[in-house]
Amino acid sequence: MSEQKSAQEMIDQSLEYNFFSWTVQSKVKTLALAGGEGCYFWDVDGNRYLDFISQLMCTNAGHQHPKIVSAIKDQADKLYFAAPKFTTQVRGELGQLLADVTPDNLTKVLFTLSGAESNENAIKFVRDYTGKFKIIARYRGYHGATYGAMTVSGDIRRTKIEPGIPGVVHVFDPYCYRCSFKRERETCDLECVSHIEEIIHYEDPKKIAAIFMEGVTGSNGIFVPRDDYWPAVRDLCDKYDILLVSDEVMSGFGRTGEWFAVDNWHVKPDIITMAKGLTGSALPLGAVAVSADIAEYFSDRMLWMGLTYNGHPMSCAAGLAAVEVYQEEGLIENSKKMGQIMKAELTNMQDRHPSIGEFRSIGLFGVIELVKDRGTREPIVDWMAGETALMKQLYKELMARGVYTFLTRNWLFLAPPLIVTEKELKEGLGAIDEVLNLADKAVK
Ligand SMILES: Cc1ncc(COP(=O)(O)O)c(C=O)c1O
Repeated sequence: MSEQKSAQEMIDQSLEYNFFSWTVQSKVKTLALAGGEGCYFWDVDGNRYLDFISQLMCTNAGHQHPKIVSAIKDQADKLYFAAPKFTTQVRGELGQLLADVTPDNLTKVLFTLSGAESNENAIKFVRDYTGKFKIIARYRGYHGATYGAMTVSGDIRRTKIEPGIPGVVHVFDPYCYRCSFKRERETCDLECVSHIEEIIHYEDPKKIAAIFMEGVTGSNGIFVPRDDYWPAVRDLCDKYDILLVSDEVMSGFGRTGEWFAVDNWHVKPDIITMAKGLTGSALPLGAVAVSADIAEYFSDRMLWMGLTYNGHPMSCAAGLAAVEVYQEEGLIENSKKMGQIMKAELTNMQDRHPSIGEFRSIGLFGVIELVKDRGTREPIVDWMAGETALMKQLYKELMARGVYTFLTRNWLFLAPPLIVTEKELKEGLGAIDEVLNLADKAVK
């Protein structure tokens, strides 16, 4: 690398030679980053930001955690790569640690390098193990941008890769604020689950391999389901001999105040897919954790899966260090504790801001849903019609106050690193409180 460039030089070079995700390339707005520490990061010009979204809901241990940095350096000095047929100490140890922190029925992992790759391989696991091919997933789910994972995602981005892979059927979500069945959360009869059962009948349970769901829906709006939702879906799967896959790529590793979102409801899925928080995103790593039954099935059968970087030593070293950081520093507990404070603050904010239609949160995983009218629940922007100016303005105003988070559609997301202190939490929420005065002006 040459000597330090200016921010503008870095940006110009990247815009000329790199693609940026999910955006029209001529409209890319980026920042040239230089460093980070704890809950903060800064750009080349020295502007410092409180990271209220853990980059992309993934730097769960914060920026530049010293234990993770030194684990990576140590592994780089020893052996930075080993072919997947070999093993290293970190590979075996991380596998065992994951068996410890996942629900006790999950005993073995396949390492990948991303959330999408984890879900791709989970699709292969469920199809091979069951001999069935159909997959049920939810419309407002996101499982990754590769062909299979994107087909399983019901998210609108799926329509861009259609026809995708065959055999995927979508169902409605537990989006209680905008219930597809026009019921209210407290009084409904879980129609979103009886609906899945009806679809199972139409699709033939003998052909359905698995149901894929995010532990808690992430980028499509943080839907925290009712306490009886996940257990009811588990019962359905047992009734019809269908596997249950929880995608915990975003909701895993303490984000919801438990190791995995399903732990909130004591549900044991047959497979958990993970990535992001697995290394605190210090290096790319994903994993598919499977049940003892699935692991046993492959003990005398070929595993038709392979990745050059399965068990990459550097990534496994980062993963081992990150999971140990979560344990040693009590970060899962901190997520729960700070999450309660966040919830109390959001409850107060809702009283002050008519633009807050609803907020949803569990642990340090939250969203504010902005509306024009609380009565009708009309979203504050019609993003389908390309009406996004207000959300862009809120983003700009937050950045001007030194707080970075993610806003899309009519949602403002909250997901600081799990190391966040009460003071940092209040700093971020204070800035959000201020900028929501702008949103209130759009209320009818
Ligand atoms: C729930 C979920 N699954 C899968 C993915 C895909 O992960 P990756 O971008 O690492 O492929 C994401 C990414 O945001 C996600 O939120």
